[in-house]
Amino acid sequence: MSTRAGSIDVKSLTPEWIQRLAPYPPGMPLEELEREYGITGSIKLASNENPYGPSPRALAAIAAALPSLHRYPDGSGFYLRQALAKRIGVPADAIILGNGSNDIIELAVRAFLRPGDEAVMADQAFVIYQMVVQAVGATARCVPLRRFTHDLEAIKAVIGPATRLVFLANPNNPTGTIYTRESWEDFLADVPPHVLVVADDAYADYVEDPDYPDSLGYQRHDRLLLTLRTFSKIYGLAGVRIGYGIGPLAVIEVLNRIRQPFNVNALAQVAALAALDDVEHVERTRRNNLEGLAYLRGVCERLGRPYVPSWANFLLVDVGDGARVYEELLRRGVIVRPMDVYGFPRHLRVSVGTPAENERFAASLAAVLAAATP
Ligand SMILES: Cc1ncc(COP(=O)(O)O)c(C=O)c1O
Repeated sequence: MSTRAGSIDVKSLTPEWIQRLAPYPPGMPLEELEREYGITGSIKLASNENPYGPSPRALAAIAAALPSLHRYPDGSGFYLRQALAKRIGVPADAIILGNGSNDIIELAVRAFLRPGDEAVMADQAFVIYQMVVQAVGATARCVPLRRFTHDLEAIKAVIGPATRLVFLANPNNPTGTIYTRESWEDFLADVPPHVLVVADDAYADYVEDPDYPDSLGYQRHDRLLLTLRTFSKIYGLAGVRIGYGIGPLAVIEVLNRIRQPFNVNALAQVAALAALDDVEHVERTRRNNLEGLAYLRGVCERLGRPYVPSWANFLLVDVGDGARVYEELLRRGVIVRPMDVYGFPRHLRVSVGTPAENERFAASLAAVLAAATP
């Protein structure tokens, strides 16, 4: 890709921390695979989406809102924040809506980090954390995972005077692992009070484990804790982009100062409000996920491939040569996620699909691995 515009070196005009950034590599869209490879009927298990799609109630709400699209959205997201506040048991002003939870990650970084400040995170957690920290000229201090899991002791140990933020994902993406209530409470007890802890609970709705610490339960008016949630996963609304953050009023107030006035579009707001009430859709998705995870674990065991036990809606599988197996699966119309950008070149991350999609993945993986065996 050229960095020049005619005789002008555009790259050299940007701060050096922007020069070092590489764009985020998203999961390949189905349309791109079919266009590039000339195939049809492919499946995508690459972005941890809901295989059952959006709630029918969300679709109906979107259809009903279409004639009003000439109007700007409600910039305060009043009705959705009211509904969330009631459900969570916090004031509506303790909630901020985002264009996906990604938006709120970025707001937190822009609000709290100056060039030269530090944010601490696991080295193999959601890569966006490192990227947005780098984008403001701050430093990402990355701490190795321990047995594919956040090492909260080690994270605590690297927090220093320049640290303003800590990012934690629980369950973690791309490993699917969780840290326990005990280690979380030890961590919270010791983290310096001036450090904002961002607890990214994007996959919390999938977890069924009594040792899981839902960070919402630890919100206090005097604790710098920001919980992130999203409608992209179990609610199946990744395409309209909506997530939210919950935190102390003073933290949310600061984030609101730099938020775009209409950062959450009108369709996303009505869809999320309707999806919240569709308990049946959420339950069906959760049940499918537990069964799908068990099925995928069984597939790995049958094929003799190690995997990382997951509490989320995906599984990290050691296939030996991630890039090659990814490519071979694409040729068979199956999109998963290669993990080299996360530093797992042997692994693929596969999202739980419908039972038919999981079977298609299993058969394709078996065929690819068999073809590679001499
Ligand atoms: C841990 C984690 N946080 C945040 C996000 C972003 O979600 P959203 O679609 O709400 O921006 C993802 C998406 O994959 C994720 O895995």
